[in-house]
Amino acid sequence: MSMKAVLAYSGGLDTSVILKLLQERVGAEVITVTVDVGQQDDFTEIEGKAYRLGAVKHYTIDAKMEFTENYIYEAVKANALYNGLYPLSSALARPLIASKVVDVALKEGADAVVHGCTGKGNDQVRFDLTFKTLAPQLKVIAPVREWGLTRDWEMEYAVKHGIPVKTKAYSIDENLWGRSIEGGVLEDPLTEPPEDVFTWTSPPGKAPDTPTYLTIEFREGVPIGVDGDSMDPVSLVKYLNHVAGTHGVGRIDLIEDRVVGLKSREVYEAPGAVTLITAHKDLERAILTKRSLDFKEIADSEWARLVYQGLWFEPLREALSTFIGSLESAVTGDVRVKLYKGALSVVGRDSPNSLYDFESISYFRSVFDQKLSTGFIELFGLQAVRANRKRLKGGRVQQVV
Ligand code: ARG
Repeated sequence: MSMKAVLAYSGGLDTSVILKLLQERVGAEVITVTVDVGQQDDFTEIEGKAYRLGAVKHYTIDAKMEFTENYIYEAVKANALYNGLYPLSSALARPLIASKVVDVALKEGADAVVHGCTGKGNDQVRFDLTFKTLAPQLKVIAPVREWGLTRDWEMEYAVKHGIPVKTKAYSIDENLWGRSIEGGVLEDPLTEPPEDVFTWTSPPGKAPDTPTYLTIEFREGVPIGVDGDSMDPVSLVKYLNHVAGTHGVGRIDLIEDRVVGLKSREVYEAPGAVTLITAHKDLERAILTKRSLDFKEIADSEWARLVYQGLWFEPLREALSTFIGSLESAVTGDVRVKLYKGALSVVGRDSPNSLYDFESISYFRSVFDQKLSTGFIELFGLQAVRANRKRLKGGRVQQVV
């Protein structure tokens, strides 16, 4: 009996070549799965291509809502930015795509699951680990890595086998949460990203001359509406991508540390992600206590690192999500942002749970008992002041410069 393999199929060169090779080299019966996470592709065309290249069955799975609610919104709660800048768009989608491939493999009684990632990147780690975690009995095949496929070889093979090839200047990965662009002239880290890498964002200099103000409403850490209109999660993210992108917000140029140890340069467009994370973080600053904020920053950055590294199913990632979720139950309120010529600024925030107290902080009122501060400072700095006594000489501490 021939082997049954389920391939995560994007319709691109790598996975198209793999679809053919699996039949040719291992005599596999191949089932293809394309997961819609908001990439702007023609899914009917992809399906047609899969069948033309010999797939015995094809699945197109719309996972946009699941992606937004269970992955993107978890990332919003965690203010997730890898290396401080990358909103993890590609990284978040991988465990979801891989889990859909596993679902199909189990339903179809397949023997193997297959992905088209190279042996140099992060995506192979994310796919492999999701496959191995969810269904350890399935064989994982990664042809690009295992069979040493190179771009040139693939191009030649594609031409020979009637696989349509488009010459592309960059390697692009896209979903609702962002666009990742890598390769081509971007491989020279000194080169400024040319305008043709961007499709979601206007050049900031050519963005509208009048700013747009938006009020984003959050409930328990996640956005639920904009400017008084409640919106479903997918529409909300799409809407912010559009509005913030028009104003040139959300361009990121990053030298990042890959899991395998290489440094790479990737350019991202993530207008909605940057807007939501910035607004959410601001709202948290008004609501959470100073101690919670300090500690959450550590939890947030570890959450982002684990997700980047393909460790979505690592117990620590899940435990951090639980911890973050418990603080987020208070994060309800409105944030007003201004979008203008590539810049995003938070210009106002309001929450029933805000710890900001106008009566105490105002220069104009006096409900705060200032006399309490005298004793507070005495004890607060007690050790620091005492520790310097030893350096007292001639009535004055000699300062370290
Ligand atoms: N560097 C990003 C990550 O590891 C994106 C990877 C996919 N990028 C691409 N242009 N194909 O998450």
